[in-house]
Amino acid sequence: MTALGEHDLHPPEVPGQAVETVREVLADLPAHRRRTFWLRVQRWWPELLEPLDLYPDARQVAGRALVLAATAFAGRSEDLHLLDERRTLEPDWLQRPSMTGYAAYAERFAEPGTGLAGVAQRVGHLRHLGVTYLHLMPLLLPRPAPNDGGYAVADYRTVRPDLGTAEDLGDLATVLRDNGVSLCLDLVLNHVAREHPWASAARAGDSHYRDYFHVFADRREPDAYEETLPEVFPTFAPGNFTYDEELSGWVWTTFNAWQWDLNWANPDVFCEMADVILYLANLGVEILRLDAIAFTWKRQGTNCQNQPEVHALTQALRAVARIAAPALAFKAEAIVGPDDLVSYLGRGVRHGKVSDLAYHNGLMVHIWSMLASRDVALAAHALSRIPAIPSSTAWITYLRCHDDIGWAIDDRDAAAVQLNGFEHRSFLSEFYAGEFEGSFADGLVFQHNPDTGDRRISGSAASLAGVGAAAQSGESVRLSDAVGRVLVGYALILGWGGIPVIWSGDEIATLNDSDWQRVPQHADDNRWAHRPALDWDVVASLDGAPTSAAARVFDGLRSMIRIRSGLVHFHAAVRARPLPTSAPGVLGVTRRHPVGPLVGLYNMTEYERYVPGWWLREQGLDPYQVTDHLGGGSPVVTEHEDILLTAYQAAWLTAR
Ligand code: GLC
Repeated sequence: MTALGEHDLHPPEVPGQAVETVREVLADLPAHRRRTFWLRVQRWWPELLEPLDLYPDARQVAGRALVLAATAFAGRSEDLHLLDERRTLEPDWLQRPSMTGYAAYAERFAEPGTGLAGVAQRVGHLRHLGVTYLHLMPLLLPRPAPNDGGYAVADYRTVRPDLGTAEDLGDLATVLRDNGVSLCLDLVLNHVAREHPWASAARAGDSHYRDYFHVFADRREPDAYEETLPEVFPTFAPGNFTYDEELSGWVWTTFNAWQWDLNWANPDVFCEMADVILYLANLGVEILRLDAIAFTWKRQGTNCQNQPEVHALTQALRAVARIAAPALAFKAEAIVGPDDLVSYLGRGVRHGKVSDLAYHNGLMVHIWSMLASRDVALAAHALSRIPAIPSSTAWITYLRCHDDIGWAIDDRDAAAVQLNGFEHRSFLSEFYAGEFEGSFADGLVFQHNPDTGDRRISGSAASLAGVGAAAQSGESVRLSDAVGRVLVGYALILGWGGIPVIWSGDEIATLNDSDWQRVPQHADDNRWAHRPALDWDVVASLDGAPTSAAARVFDGLRSMIRIRSGLVHFHAAVRARPLPTSAPGVLGVTRRHPVGPLVGLYNMTEYERYVPGWWLREQGLDPYQVTDHLGGGSPVVTEHEDILLTAYQAAWLTAR
């Protein structure tokens, strides 16, 4: 048998010039490595080429991207090549029940002044909790403040000097990986800072770089687009275009005036970003959070979100990454309605070919909605309407994150359960702002839009769940209820399937930061209220104060994470089916794994509830023959065969 030569391996459609260049780039690599590269090209070239037909010369752009991939592949470390092999052998690594995430600002997690090395020093806390994935908030060089918490990047290849260097970032990724933790970083791909060299060159009159952005000489086109464009930051950045004197024109700025949207219709932008992705992958980043990805393609007459080209481009970028660095995964940050969301994991021809992970914004919103209304009908209806996701992908589930909560409740979903969407959204804003009679919550209104009536909400999980007010009242039942709300919320995001991500501080019931306005550049953005530095004194005191809210949340969360990692039912490939249980305010979530069903019960109220035995039997479980993994034994079954749930109790039931 003759060995396969490189000539036999590359697909014929690769432009000859690109093949020649790739051969030169790979020339010094051992034969087995060159073969791996060409095998991957065979596998991924079609997925790279097809979506690029939105550019005039798709083959040429794909060829350029292939050369970038080869260069990154040749420069990839031995460790990371090994990781690539490992991940290729365990393609479901992100879907396993043992995956648990944590998200934090590096400088607010590490001891002040210790930078990325300080993050590494605190890996013990993550391990203790059971975390296997760490999302560090933007840490690449941003423009000077204000910079939207780092989401206005001035250089994708430089780490913020107060945190360290690119080398330190690589070292941190290695330490984390040695501790079983995968590093996730943001890739801000919708916009760059006005100070990024591409934008500076455009401002200096370089027409090549001017084409990296959407620039309009007058208001005609911007006005036409504005007819159908929503506003993301109506309070501090109204409108979607900013006049720039140096450009003598209007530049597209979806977010703040100093965040310039990139023009993805320009293939040079595609190649630049592909190269940034490969650079970060070679530092050891394992997951890229594709920030604000929904906004990357513009089309007049639409809201310029979720356009089909967004998914085409993601597929092409992923193919480039899979060729050079298959250990890298993509996570879509698309905070969009239920009808658009699943496309980020791939629908139709792009099924399973785009992002590997996507945020389940709907689940988060409905958890808070259920806690406020003590009703699960809307959530059960809306969540069961979300189409199944490709079996190779997974949700990122979360209760809180660094952003505000927008009340993404669909009008049709509301109508289906006899609610008015607008009124329910208004109710939730009032409730979580603490304005509603009897509300337990202590949140802040973020970006009130008088035109639409939208009022988003800031606040930490514990504050929104009422831990602050309950602790102040000194009433132990109130405090137990508030702690119960945090824990049942977390039980639900752990029990949904996918990667649950804990927002830093939630694990110790951190309240809103009362000093958030002290930093002048943060003063108009109350999202900083739920972004305080982690209180390590509280972490240190957990063992000594086992009945404190912090310790109860920490112990509860840690124990749920441990229990979950041992239950195969929670593999993300198994679909979660939400349904009302016939006990008011108790949500059921059934997961039918080949080994048998797991039924999650979530009491979203402060009242005792009874889930009927017949209901459980319908799910395939006998109430007398089940184990509650969270309770550590048999559930309490009444003489009427009902399963008793105490206030905010969650149960994970399987056949004994
Ligand atoms: C994402 C981030 C948010 C930021 C925006 C603009 O939505 O989560 O914090 O303001 O993108 O980059």
